[in-house]
This record gives sequence, structure tokens and C-alpha cells, in this order.
Amino acid sequence: MRKSGSMLRRLGAVAAMVAAGVLLPGGSALAQGKLKVGLMLPYTGTYAALGNAITNGFKLAVAENGGKVAGRDIDYFTVDDESDPAKAPENANKLIKRDQVDVLVGTVHSGVALAMAKVARDNNTLLIIPNAGADDITGPLCAANIFRTSFSNSQPGIAMGKVMAEQKKKTAVTLTWDYAAGKESVGGFKEAFEAGGGKVVKELFLPFPQVEFQSYLTEIAALKPDVVYVFFAGGGAVKFVKDYAAAGLPKTIPLVGPGFLTDGTLEAQGEAAQGLLTTLHYGDGLKNPKNDAFRAAYTKAYKIEPDVYAVQGYDAAQLLIVGMNAVKGDVSKRAEMVKAMEGAKLDSPRGSLALSKGHNPIHDIYLRKVEGKENKVVGVAVKNLTDPPRGCKL
Ligand code: PHB
Repeated sequence: MRKSGSMLRRLGAVAAMVAAGVLLPGGSALAQGKLKVGLMLPYTGTYAALGNAITNGFKLAVAENGGKVAGRDIDYFTVDDESDPAKAPENANKLIKRDQVDVLVGTVHSGVALAMAKVARDNNTLLIIPNAGADDITGPLCAANIFRTSFSNSQPGIAMGKVMAEQKKKTAVTLTWDYAAGKESVGGFKEAFEAGGGKVVKELFLPFPQVEFQSYLTEIAALKPDVVYVFFAGGGAVKFVKDYAAAGLPKTIPLVGPGFLTDGTLEAQGEAAQGLLTTLHYGDGLKNPKNDAFRAAYTKAYKIEPDVYAVQGYDAAQLLIVGMNAVKGDVSKRAEMVKAMEGAKLDSPRGSLALSKGHNPIHDIYLRKVEGKENKVVGVAVKNLTDPPRGCKL
């Protein structure tokens, strides 16, 4: 008697919850409530513009999907990570433990992303990285719950190293911020440049996010290499390109880099950026129907031109939508969701986008040239570039 009584009470409680709309049979979108999305990105500091562009891109893809994901409305929880790795574990934990987000989206800075990836692994939280290229995250540290829709740091570097070797440059000097992104970007360049017969004669570093470049420019002028390869982005890239031009160096020593050097920065760099060659998985004037539609929609929504970061944020939402649709919004079906995301073929503004075994993009890397306010695509530097396996055990 007591047993069936408690069962009845339980059934009554379930019926009351159904009536209240808290729990509906069949796992419907209404039953599941809002999807909690944690955006952990830089909204201040040298990478602030990058965080904003990613946020805009992500929200645009959701808006184009009817403002929902698999029928579920979204609750955004936003944290400014300040591109500070020391604050990253606490920031990520806040979103996961306090706000209980269903998915974490972030970030820009590789050092912050490495810490986020650890927290995501420890808590088995789904993480989608819309920029930070730390090679290890989709290499030895790869995980079923971690995806990236941007690039790995070495990819654009490899492409530029190849192009410079093909142009018969013999010597190069590199300069970058001393952290994972800079080191791996330069590493990719060096590997491909030296494989093609060139030699990196000096690798220069300064601490992130310092922008006092003068002494390095003096050293570069004295070394007189055939080419200078740098990794800088955001506010730092604006200042570097202007300082390089002000020092009169472009006339004698060409400056090249991954496309972050000139993406989202041309308005501020103006004359100083004209003619710069960069390599990246995106270009403003890429001719494909998706890019035309994306650029028109983004400009209409935000009254500014999109850049590579906006594309990566847009693709992060596209990837989430693929996973969510496969499980009809039921995030508890993680294995099915991951499988769908792994097999996704995204129609990205960059061109078609598939993921490697380690969940990193396989994409074309374009050679671009700055003309006016555009990073004009002048060729494909490497077709379908994928990462070497690098110890990912998935
Ligand atoms: C990174 O830290 O991984 C990073 C930051 C800015 C970029 C690219 C990579 O533009």
C-alpha cells in the first residue's frame, strides 16, 4: 500500500510538472527550456574588437536560424576574459558551475583557451572555440567535447612559409608576442620556409600585449633579411603595421604575416597597410554565394564590415546548430551530438568547412593582398590544409 501510494504521489508530481510546462513528454523544445550559452571572450584590451566580432557573428547565425537553436531559445551568459590566462579557470568555472551553461563558446587568446579546455575536459562541458589556435587543443589535448571552428596557429604560418620560399626569399626574421599563438605561428612559418630552402636568421619576441616595437625595428633594419614575418592581432597589429611603415622599412624589407595582421584593422591602419601580403582562411572579397549573403546580412545588422573573427563566430553557431538539430535540442544525448558535429560539412563564408579527427578545421588557406580597405584574395596558398595528427587520440 505504502509503495503504490508513493508511486501515485510521484505520478501526481510529474503530472503537475507537465501541467506547469516544466516537463513535457517527448523531450520537446518547450520541455527543455532555454539553451544556456556561455560566451567567454575578450571585450576589453588589445583583442576587444575580436571578441565583439565573434559575438556578432555567433548571434547572426542564430538570428538566421529563427533566433533559436533546435527550437530552443537562448540565454546568453557573458564573461569578459580580458585575454588573461591567470583569470581563465575562475571565469570558465563561473559559467559552468554557477550559471550551469549547456555549452561554452570561447575564446580568442590561446593561453586562456588552454585553461578553458582543461576546465571543459574536467567537467565534460561542450566547448566550441571560435578563434584561439593553440595547436595542442586539437592535437595531444584533443577531446570529444572540444571543437574549433577557426584554425590552428601553425596553419597560416605554414602557408606563408611556403609562399615566401616559392618567391625565392632566402632569409627571414620573425617577431611576435611570446606566447603560444605567436610561437606556433612563427613555428609553422619556419618549418615551411626552411623546408623550401629559406633560413630564419633571427626569432624576436616581446611579452603579450606590449606594443613598444622601436628597438625591434632597429634590430630588423640592421639584420636586413629578405622578409619579416610577424604575428600580431587586434590593437597590437594596428600599431605594429603603422610603426613598421613609419620606420620606412617596407621599401626595403617586405613585411608578411598571418592574415590577423590586417583583418578588422584596415580602417585604422590606412596607408601603412597598403600592399601587404598575408595568408588566412578567409578574405573579404571571397567570391561564393554564402560569403556574399553573410557580408550583406552582417553589414545590415551591425553597420560595420565583417572580418575573419565574425566568420569564425558565425561558424561556431552553425556547428552548434548541426549538433543540436541531430538530437532535437536534447543536449543530454552528447554522443549523438558529437557524432553529428564531427561529420558536419559547414557552408562557411570562407568556403566549405570540414573538421579533422582532432576537431580542427580543414580549409583552404588563401594568399591575400591589401588593396584599399580590402584583404583581396589573390590566390590559394595551400588547398585543404589539415593539421598533422600530433598525438590526438580520439
Ligand atoms: C591566439 O591567441 O590564439 C590568437 C589571438 C588572436 C588572433 C589569432 C590567434 O588573431
